[in-house]
Amino acid sequence: MNTIQQELTQTLSAAFSAAGYDAALGEARLSDRPELGDYQCNGALAAAKRYHKAPLVIAEEVTGAIPADAGFSAEIVRPGFINLKVSPSLMRQKLAELSADADLGIPKKAPKKIVLDYGGPNVAKPLHIGHLRSAVIGESLKRILRAVGCEVLGDVHLGDWGLQMGLVINELRHRNPELPYFDPDFKGEYPEEAPFTISELEELYPFASAKSKTDEAYRAEAMEATHLLQSGDPGYRALWKKIMEVSVADLKRNYQRLDVTFELWKGESDVQPRLAPMVEKMVADGIAVRDQGALVVDVSEPTDKKELPPCIVQKSDGAALYSTTDLATIAEREELYAPDAIIYVVDKRQAMHFTQVFRTARKAGLVREGTELTHVGFGTMNGKDGTPFKTREGGVMRLETLLNEVNEEMIGKIRENKNVRAEDAEATADMVSLAAIKYGDLWNQASKDYIFDIEKFASFEGNTGPYILYTIVRISSILEKAGVSRERGALTAFKAPESAAEKDLVLTLLRFGETVEKAAEELAPHKICAYVYGLANAFNRFYHETKILSEPDEGKRAGYLALLSLSYAVLTRAIELLGFAAPEHM
Ligand code: ARG
Repeated sequence: MNTIQQELTQTLSAAFSAAGYDAALGEARLSDRPELGDYQCNGALAAAKRYHKAPLVIAEEVTGAIPADAGFSAEIVRPGFINLKVSPSLMRQKLAELSADADLGIPKKAPKKIVLDYGGPNVAKPLHIGHLRSAVIGESLKRILRAVGCEVLGDVHLGDWGLQMGLVINELRHRNPELPYFDPDFKGEYPEEAPFTISELEELYPFASAKSKTDEAYRAEAMEATHLLQSGDPGYRALWKKIMEVSVADLKRNYQRLDVTFELWKGESDVQPRLAPMVEKMVADGIAVRDQGALVVDVSEPTDKKELPPCIVQKSDGAALYSTTDLATIAEREELYAPDAIIYVVDKRQAMHFTQVFRTARKAGLVREGTELTHVGFGTMNGKDGTPFKTREGGVMRLETLLNEVNEEMIGKIRENKNVRAEDAEATADMVSLAAIKYGDLWNQASKDYIFDIEKFASFEGNTGPYILYTIVRISSILEKAGVSRERGALTAFKAPESAAEKDLVLTLLRFGETVEKAAEELAPHKICAYVYGLANAFNRFYHETKILSEPDEGKRAGYLALLSLSYAVLTRAIELLGFAAPEHM
């Protein structure tokens, strides 16, 4: 279906054209002054410059060419704005179309294939809150892009190959030298069972990492272990596989709690065989050159305002780097999936890294010209003191700890709530906590830092995830009381809106499609949050001002209920795009 905005734009474009002006001037947009109109068109002002004519004259010619049954009225105000008021009958017709549309008015774009790189956890290190934003924003982007018709492959892109592996392996060797993995003469099958649990693994890494910072010889051992692993030592490779198994199972469990899923569980290790040939080719093509022993690619461009350092693709000791792996991964993705775009949801402090990598990839011809490479950089999650979020002891907080703490607070609130049955309390608390965390994060434009204030995020009032859920549950319970199904399409007796609150609710509902389209275009989940908050407020205002169940007029009552059922459908779909869902009761 066409959105209202598209409908208005089409009619206006035809009118501009009929009056002898460029049809492109007929764009309708949301009104800056809702008291004057629902939408507006500024085309006459733009035309005035181009056609050297008074904007008021143009506006009059254009509005004169709008057919009487266009479904909106147009009013001209100085110096040439055209204010548009949508007619009640068009609203009613659009409501019916929206409720019948399986996509709820979300326009489908030409399908694009996208690889979405998000999550980015490191194996053998516990997930910490630094990884939360990537997971939350990435998952929402995936759902938004799919809603507009893109084919999206989410890749977790594990950090599974660096020094952290050597550190863990070397520490294991100190503790259990008798393991067959460390016996160079070992022949036969390595044991099926991993020689550690996830908790042991998670204790090993911080221990080894701290020790390597003060103990030079120990660090050298870890580097040697990394080297042995990377050059294919069978014992070290077998042990690495065990670390991967245990760690990935734990990561999956954690992401599942966040309702975050990945289609691809690839990682840095997958592209190791590609690194050397790729770098050799860059040298042969004259793209990578020696600089103080290292191999570097000049990525500066004449238009750069700040000098961009070259991209290092090989260190002077011959080792590959983070950039090398990212480059080879681009080549692999191009080969396996030929995507139209690769989008990275990674901390914005890595912006320079991605600029270097993207430019090198283009220079080296690793991607086709049309392949878009985009870094969606996000800001830091801060504590109330404005510095990066920490545990009470000042350490890095594990994601699991954070989720548990939020859940604990929430379960208390939910238990006090008499609408929730005791046996549902835990599951409900899980859902509400997730909404609190995700909405609190996504509300902010991704690139901004934000303050993680769980008391605020978990509140049932104000601009929060729980408030949105509460609104949905409220609608659902009214529908239940009325004895009608929540199923979309069950109620279709839409009526033309009367009160200002009802009209606002209707127009907000009708903007869902264009909101999702914008969020997809700009890779901006926060636009959906703003919409959802506006819709919840519009609904609650309508609800407080209108007698719904006690309305004596049958037709009106049916119209209200149809509006409620559509509000329920849109809100539910909108939060699904944000990555959470509403419980039955709250
Ligand atoms: N593992 C990295 C980190 O923890 C993030 C990886 C992001 N993705 C990428 N393709 N570079 O910082």
